[in-house]
Amino acid sequence: MQFSTFQKNLNEWQGASLIFGVVEEEIESQLENIRFIVDPKLLLKKFTTKKFKGEKGKCLNFEFLDQKLETIIIIGLGKSKDLNKDDIKNSLGDLIRKILDKNEKISILLPWELINSKLEIHHLAESVRLSAYKDNRFNKKKDEHKVLKEIEFLTSNKFENITFDETEKICEGVELARRLVAAPPNSLTPKEMSIQAKQIAKDHGLGVKILDAKQCEDLGMGAYLAVAKGSDLEPKFIHLTLKSEGPIKEKIALVGKGLTFDSGGYNLKVGASQIEMMKYDMGGSAAVLGAAKALGAIKPKGLEIHFIVAACENMINGSAVHPGDVVTASNGKTIEINNTDAEGRLTLADALTYASNLKPDSIIDLATLTGAIVVALGNDVAGFWSNDNDLANDLKTASTVVGEGLWQMPLQKSYKEGLKSHIADMKNTGPRAGGSITAALFLEEFFNEEIKWAHIDIAGTCWTDKNNGLNPSGATGFGVRTLVQWIKNK
Ligand code: BES
Ligand code: MG
Ligand code: ZN
Repeated sequence: MQFSTFQKNLNEWQGASLIFGVVEEEIESQLENIRFIVDPKLLLKKFTTKKFKGEKGKCLNFEFLDQKLETIIIIGLGKSKDLNKDDIKNSLGDLIRKILDKNEKISILLPWELINSKLEIHHLAESVRLSAYKDNRFNKKKDEHKVLKEIEFLTSNKFENITFDETEKICEGVELARRLVAAPPNSLTPKEMSIQAKQIAKDHGLGVKILDAKQCEDLGMGAYLAVAKGSDLEPKFIHLTLKSEGPIKEKIALVGKGLTFDSGGYNLKVGASQIEMMKYDMGGSAAVLGAAKALGAIKPKGLEIHFIVAACENMINGSAVHPGDVVTASNGKTIEINNTDAEGRLTLADALTYASNLKPDSIIDLATLTGAIVVALGNDVAGFWSNDNDLANDLKTASTVVGEGLWQMPLQKSYKEGLKSHIADMKNTGPRAGGSITAALFLEEFFNEEIKWAHIDIAGTCWTDKNNGLNPSGATGFGVRTLVQWIKNK
């Protein structure tokens, strides 16, 4: 999808469908803005009969069958003093989804004087595009509807020289993440993920390294390989490197949990554990690869960024890990696997050790790690932990700018007790209470503690069953925009 702006006088505009946002006050003078398109008096009359005053969330639809202009949709934005950018994004998003199939091009006219900066129009564009996302890859019957190709903002002379290149790059990253997450587990296998990673590297000039099981064994990755053992599919350890030209000021590692399917292993997912949804257990790696695609295109300066995924499946066969096995991770620590369904942290243990050995200034990992975080924070907010206040604040700032929910959780040291094992250095699973906190404490054992680190548990946010804001039902691509914004802020 493309973005464009119409910068000329409105009376020269000749599009077919228009979304026009109005606030509650001085409706008449607002309608004057479109008097070249339709008679304000006529519209005003309709407003009265339909009892429309520009209230937030209300909308009116006009069809003109015999004219060049086919549709005008007027959306109420509420009182201008309460005007909230998120409300505009949400109303536009909902609307776009409704009319998506009917138009190839949609034009949008808003009270721009109330929309302050270029950044805001970029965020509007981003949310419109992400709201309009559709995925028909797995439908045999092809959709015969029109495909929305262009969003035009009627800005007149308001935002001069504006371009949407970066917005497009970020959206492409989010959309890649969504496609990876939504792909079924027989399609997106560890091998397929490695192929997609290689493609990103090729498209944007990143370094790429894919390690097979033997190479991971040579590195002593006993925790990761224990998880992969029960699957017929070979694990793939993915490492992409994006290096800016010129001097490097900071080195960053982004690590994503990449379980292309999580059956639970011998601690099989039963009852209401939603085993059929566990294709999305690679949401963390999707965010990392989505960020790699976006950042590979944006090419930030002064940075070396590593993208790391220990991809595999958690399955059951005769050589699968037993509940009770003791394994050794690549940093030499031994782990008693008291629950095979706490597999994500085992794969992350070796991925974090690998990242730590690259000696980055900071590591951020993203993972659909625990059901406990879904209970704690629901589907709109991800939990995060960090050993560094500056990193925590920077992440919060970035997530607030892009509108992804993020809430800091405690690294409660006393809960480490729950991971004590009688026979190994630690167990992989603590008590049920505070389950997402012990998971974070477990991860903390696998990198050099001088490195700034943050862990984001996206188990609740990587998928939505219903349309939700700029996320159509399905995979959200959560995390890509926060990661990219965090890096852009550097
Ligand atoms: N992939 C799951 C976590 C998950 C649960 C993600 C629900 C999305 C929705 C993870 O591997 C898992 O199974 N975690 C267990 C840990 C437990 C055994 C300590 C859980 O949360 O139940
Ligand atoms: Mg599991
Ligand atoms: Zn899992």
